[in-house]
Amino acid sequence: MSVNIVLTGLMGCGKSTVAKLISKELKGYICVDTDDVIADIEGMSISDIFEKKSEKYFRELEERVIAELAQEESLVISLGGGAFESEVNRDNLAEGGVTVYLKTSPDILYERIKDDSTRPLLRCDNPKLKLEELLKQREPNYLKSEFVITTDNKTPKEVVDEILASIQE
Ligand code: S3P
Repeated sequence: MSVNIVLTGLMGCGKSTVAKLISKELKGYICVDTDDVIADIEGMSISDIFEKKSEKYFRELEERVIAELAQEESLVISLGGGAFESEVNRDNLAEGGVTVYLKTSPDILYERIKDDSTRPLLRCDNPKLKLEELLKQREPNYLKSEFVITTDNKTPKEVVDEILASIQE
């Protein structure tokens, strides 16, 4: 198998952790986090890009980075939570890879990320409500993934095993 494995879902669903584990399990696979690539290119954190350059700038760069990564193979790609909102991104990623939505309930997402201040979209009065709104708005697009794996009350290893079993079927 050499197709890219692409993980999508809201902030806190476990994309980065699961992507790292998959790349350890699958020989020849490398894990790439689109936010890390973008932060490296810009030489600043995602929060700073949002603040100093704008979300629009971030989204355009995210689209370019994804278009390039989608041309590669043997990658486990951990997407930023908003990347699947773009049809261009969805199409590019589906072309050379399998897409997997890590479906997680908002209460669990909130518990996982409530003490993390690095997410610009959650710097607001009511981050829990914001997560619920984002999930409602974005889930129709997340559900366009080829596979949907629920993560509530599962360990990262259990999620990885389920993903690999689904993909390899
Ligand atoms: C975003 C999620 C973040 C990051 C940026 C925007 C979003 O990535 O790309 O802050 O729109 O949901 P994670 O999902 O990895 O936290």
